[in-house]
Amino acid sequence: MSKTAGDLAAARAEYARLGAEIAHHDALYYREDAPEITDAAYDALRHRYEALEKAHPEFVSEKSLSQRVGATPSEKFAKVRHKVPMLSLGNVFDDAEVEDFVARVRRFLGLAADAPLAMTAEPKIDGLSCSLRFEHGQLVQAATRGDGYEGEDVTANVKTIGEIPHVLKHAPPAVLEVRGEVYMTRTDFAALNARQAEAGKPLFANPRNSAAGSLRQLDPSITASRPLHFFAYAWGEVSHMPAATQMSMIEAFRHYGLPVNRLTVLCHSAVDLLRHYHEIENRRAALPYDIDGVVYKIDDLALQDRLGFVSRAPRWAVAHKFPAEQATTILRDIEIQVGRTGALTPVARLEPVTVGGVVVSNATLHNEDEIARKDIRIGDTVRLQRAGDVIPQILGVVLEKRPKHAKPYEFPHVCPVCGSAAIRETSDGGTDVVRRCTGGLICKAQAKERLKHFVSRLAFDIEGLGDKQIEQFYAEGLITKPDDIFTLAARDARAETKLADREGYGETSVRNLFAAIEARREIALNRFIFALGIRHVGETNARRLARHFGTFEALRETARAAREGSEARAEIDNIEGLGAVVAEAVADFFAEKHNEDELDALLKYVSVVPMEAVAASSPVAGKTVVFTGSLERLTRDEAKAQAERLGAKVAASVSKNTDLVVAGPGAGSKLAKAKELGIETIDEDAWLKLVAKARD
Ligand code: IVH
Repeated sequence: MSKTAGDLAAARAEYARLGAEIAHHDALYYREDAPEITDAAYDALRHRYEALEKAHPEFVSEKSLSQRVGATPSEKFAKVRHKVPMLSLGNVFDDAEVEDFVARVRRFLGLAADAPLAMTAEPKIDGLSCSLRFEHGQLVQAATRGDGYEGEDVTANVKTIGEIPHVLKHAPPAVLEVRGEVYMTRTDFAALNARQAEAGKPLFANPRNSAAGSLRQLDPSITASRPLHFFAYAWGEVSHMPAATQMSMIEAFRHYGLPVNRLTVLCHSAVDLLRHYHEIENRRAALPYDIDGVVYKIDDLALQDRLGFVSRAPRWAVAHKFPAEQATTILRDIEIQVGRTGALTPVARLEPVTVGGVVVSNATLHNEDEIARKDIRIGDTVRLQRAGDVIPQILGVVLEKRPKHAKPYEFPHVCPVCGSAAIRETSDGGTDVVRRCTGGLICKAQAKERLKHFVSRLAFDIEGLGDKQIEQFYAEGLITKPDDIFTLAARDARAETKLADREGYGETSVRNLFAAIEARREIALNRFIFALGIRHVGETNARRLARHFGTFEALRETARAAREGSEARAEIDNIEGLGAVVAEAVADFFAEKHNEDELDALLKYVSVVPMEAVAASSPVAGKTVVFTGSLERLTRDEAKAQAERLGAKVAASVSKNTDLVVAGPGAGSKLAKAKELGIETIDEDAWLKLVAKARD
């Protein structure tokens, strides 16, 4: 061997050894929180490694540490179940809605208009929310929000964020889950994109996306190389509350060494909130980070607790969003998309334009009446706006710029996908604004959209089976109905050309896909009901049905019997929050033979897990409660919310299915009926005692 060849081999060996050593120290530092060497010694290793790469570019391979920056995650993160769900916020957009919010809170709590009510106002940070769990002051776990109930374990990554302490100061509660926003500053975002561009890598759309992309990296050393920050503004599980108000909780977080936002203030009225909103709005451009509104929260935590939640958002907080950003561009074409329920939705294809830092080339046109009302024509110059995450909307046309020969748009009366008639249903003397394809499942668009819904995040949530894969598998006839998903692996085993042989797939991705499918052979009842895509049954109504019926068999039996005017129909109609329209949609769904056939096929492969008795210790879990008469210490809404939190169903009228009637003064016919049926009846005080007992 010549001397140079020997040197080269030695250099290669050193490069490999250094790579392994650096990876080892990365793991100790980020994952174990127990570095063995000083930062300076680590930097020296990294320096030598980079010098070798410079001198021998041929050493660099996919496995090199330097090549892993910006790599997309290839494995999954571990899942973390949130003990307290991470819900979202309702939005308001103008002064009147802010006043409504305050008035609604007062009404719910039964507070007089002049009774004091303290609220906080703080910037709404445009990043991604993250939950940090500290036990005995030590950071033990960090998780993304995910679907609100289950997020991803990003502990190792969060540990690389310099601003987040690994150990809290000043004796915090034994268990403290701190929630807040991970974000990137605008300057750091611009610098990161410049680096990405230089390296020929894809650019991030905005600071929020770059923060999310940086946090959700499998390799914590990548996260470490991205400058992320954090603001604490909320909490999950806390063993012992250190404070009794929102403001003092934020103060406690600061005391423990967590970063909190200094623009948080205490307000006492809607006028006060709006004043602070405008103050923050004026400072917005000068802030180093993106914000998209101001969040208002009721300050007193006991009141927050009484207000509780409705659907996925708290009643005690709201986000006041900044007005949407606007731009003008040319409407190139109008494309008609056919949705899951056959709805024909017009989509504007636009000359790409930047609005609020994001390039927009599509916008929704809602429906045919909207197009007619605004007289939107192909070729027009249109004004559009983008607000937060919502799909951009077209506000109107710049008439002076209309081309001479532009013709009014004619909305199609046949489905562009299957050619079936597309009609607007009439009911109660009105015409539906939506035109729908009548093709049902013979319409490929509807069948495909139903499948996409079936695998979506709040439904079966099958990783590796998203819109793109459904499109592809549907086109090839591999998956055309839900049960096909569960036979995919068995069919692939018999097939001549395997999934793993095709473009874009490999052994690992196919194995992961099959494993993800396998993992969903058991599914919670509410997700299953949601996945069916019954009209008017979104996530919340699916939960209501699941809670009421407990098992899929019970729902199915009642739904099958739910002809118009039947007792079964009335049972569904009577479930709190549902009503006649939903009851009809549920009955219609189960009356369709092909839906029943598909359910039978599917249930061969899938087992639906009954609703676990919500709050098993609750004395009213699974029971049906009716409130009647006037309540003196609680408002009606508050009482209902309490009952639902304890896993009870609240019904509007007394029937033989009622388990408990809570009657206040003035109760009339409902109380009489309850007595007649021999149903247990209690007063408001007894109800409050029961609630208090369930909380202990
Ligand atoms: S409070 C239960 N405060 O906005 C409500 N959220 O649109 C807890 N966000 O998921 C949220 N700044 O990611 C709260 N100061 C702030 C916030 C904030 C940003 C995000 C958060 C949340 C989303 C809801």
